[in-house]
Amino acid sequence: MTLNKISKIQPELFEFTGANLLKAKKEIDKYPKSRKASAVLALLYLVQNQNNNWIPLAAIKYVAGQLNMPYIKVYEVATFYSMFNLSPVGKYYVQVCTTTPCMIRGAKKITDICKKNISQNQNELSENKLCSWTEVECLGACVNAPMMQINQDFFEDLDEKKTEEIIQSLLKDKFPEPGSAKNRKNNAPEKGKTSLLEVKNA
Ligand code: FES
Repeated sequence: MTLNKISKIQPELFEFTGANLLKAKKEIDKYPKSRKASAVLALLYLVQNQNNNWIPLAAIKYVAGQLNMPYIKVYEVATFYSMFNLSPVGKYYVQVCTTTPCMIRGAKKITDICKKNISQNQNELSENKLCSWTEVECLGACVNAPMMQINQDFFEDLDEKKTEEIIQSLLKDKFPEPGSAKNRKNNAPEKGKTSLLEVKNA
């Protein structure tokens, strides 16, 4: 996203709702008074939940004020962790894993489908504003590569056809069934269990 676009979408002010202020105080109280900064991740997470899954600059300044931290220190934390979004994301936020195991198994085709159907660039909203997508590092489901995370759910063992179906469904404001596109249970072999047959939920 260009600097011009980013500055247009930034709200001038941010503050916690009453309920979130209470939650923030609880987090801060977990630490000694001289170590308030330890609550920075928890407060940024609260901001993101309150603000449609992204953190504006005004909120980074607000959190710095709550924790008596220099603004730049909070900014460093917010920009370091990829789970914090610093620009608006869609109602359906698609994170495509492009680390080596997923890449070898076809992640590039998945990002191409995102480019074609959602937006040409990462971190931009689709035309109907429902979706956005980004590339991320390993999400810990390499054995089900290639995969992507949409909001809180994993979609695994993807191919082009399945990915296209999922994205089209999101664009129609329908959340598809998460899990393996090959109907594997977790990371069991594709043709069913081969060991621990006597153990029910293994
Ligand atoms: S490499 Fe994609 S989930 Fe690990």
